[in-house]
Amino acid sequence: MSDDAPQHSDAFVFFGATGDLANKQIFPALYAMTKRGTLGIPVIGVAFQHWTLDDLRKRAHDSITAHGGIDDQQAFDRLTQSLRYIDGDYSDPATFEALAKALHEVGAKRPAHYLAIPPSLFPTVVEALGKTGSARHARVVVEKPFGRDLATAQELNRVLHTVFPESSIFRIDHYLGKEPIENLLYFRFANSFLEPIWNRNYVESVQLTMAENFGVEDRGRFYEEVGALRDVVQNHMLQVAALLAMEPPVGGGDESTRDEKEKVFRSIRTLGPTDLVRGQYIGYRDVDGVASDSDVETFAAVRLFLDSWRWDGVPFFIRAGKELPITVTEVLVKLRKPPQQVFAEEQIDPDDTNYLRFRLGPDNIAIALGAREKTAGESFVGHPVELYLCENMVDEMAPYERLLGDAMAGKAMLFAREDAVEEAWRVVDRVLTDHGTAHPYERKTWGCSEATALLPEGEFWHDPQP
Ligand code: BG6
Repeated sequence: MSDDAPQHSDAFVFFGATGDLANKQIFPALYAMTKRGTLGIPVIGVAFQHWTLDDLRKRAHDSITAHGGIDDQQAFDRLTQSLRYIDGDYSDPATFEALAKALHEVGAKRPAHYLAIPPSLFPTVVEALGKTGSARHARVVVEKPFGRDLATAQELNRVLHTVFPESSIFRIDHYLGKEPIENLLYFRFANSFLEPIWNRNYVESVQLTMAENFGVEDRGRFYEEVGALRDVVQNHMLQVAALLAMEPPVGGGDESTRDEKEKVFRSIRTLGPTDLVRGQYIGYRDVDGVASDSDVETFAAVRLFLDSWRWDGVPFFIRAGKELPITVTEVLVKLRKPPQQVFAEEQIDPDDTNYLRFRLGPDNIAIALGAREKTAGESFVGHPVELYLCENMVDEMAPYERLLGDAMAGKAMLFAREDAVEEAWRVVDRVLTDHGTAHPYERKTWGCSEATALLPEGEFWHDPQP
């Protein structure tokens, strides 16, 4: 190990240990890490539920059983033996004194504090960690939502920085821990054939669709405060757009990749009201916790322009919504048509140009190149085909396993940096409040038809196939 390699955290402190995220994602991730032999440090849960350590162990058992199952009893036993639990109010200094004592008892000098708690509690927790000495040489891992607009994100950053330097802050966007999303970065810069066409001269437009075939379910109250733009566009979708648009990182290292992504965010024009169409599925207002006259969007379509040399004039269209026909995330990079039509074919669909299609899951994963080939026979007429460059790769590590592992190892590449998060909020900040009303749409359709107005005349949204 070189002298400047980051040291691994020596305890994992887990605020919100009794919560939903812990149940669905974190215990299964910690178990997977234990099986792989990459955890091996004490795990200290903190919450205010009047639970005991045995309650937490039972939760760990139930959570892992329900999300993948226990197939390695020894690993499970190792994980539960490494568990500690502190029950206490976050506003009570005694909770943090108990934490400091627990850290001392397990000999931890460089803990990683993971805050799976509402952002409104960050200031209290961060300040208390600072006061009790538990922030020294420590890392902090924070969950989304990171603010609800530019001003609140800046305030959160300010609060975190009162105690932690930027190099110790790890902001989670779980999309960045997904295998096919990482493959986007790899595919772009591990191949040379893409670079000559990856610019405004060859690319006509880029479309990103994140579709979910279910509604907001039991998260009505949460969703009313958020809406699709804040929930998935400002973070997951802009992160994918940045991976597609960024310049090659220079010199290796985590920061060079994060530098290039930040430049992309900086180049995106601030959205205005005509760049956004919002929709709401019919039935959303009947969900528990949703206002009967709610105008919150469950579907958002936006048009982005990047003021950069590479992408000048190339629109990036993003669409994300709930209650759409299928659950899928897909990118379509549409290439320009050949300059002349050499063959006297009739009725070529204007969408039948060349393209690159990135299927980013969840069920299928693929990279395909859309082309035309001649149909066998006398005449020079053809049909579209797809050449698969890769298909159905296996995501063998869940995003939370990868991200928590990286945070504990001090690897920052897959985390959102302060400047990038704030730039991404800047892009959407105006239209969070300055927008038209949400158009109703039927469930299991591709959102509201008004979204077509964002595209150039004659163009259509590319609807991913099942
Ligand atoms: C979350 C959003 O960040 O991402 C959810 O809050 C959304 O609304 C989810 O459903 C999608 O992530 P995944 O990994 O399930 O595709």
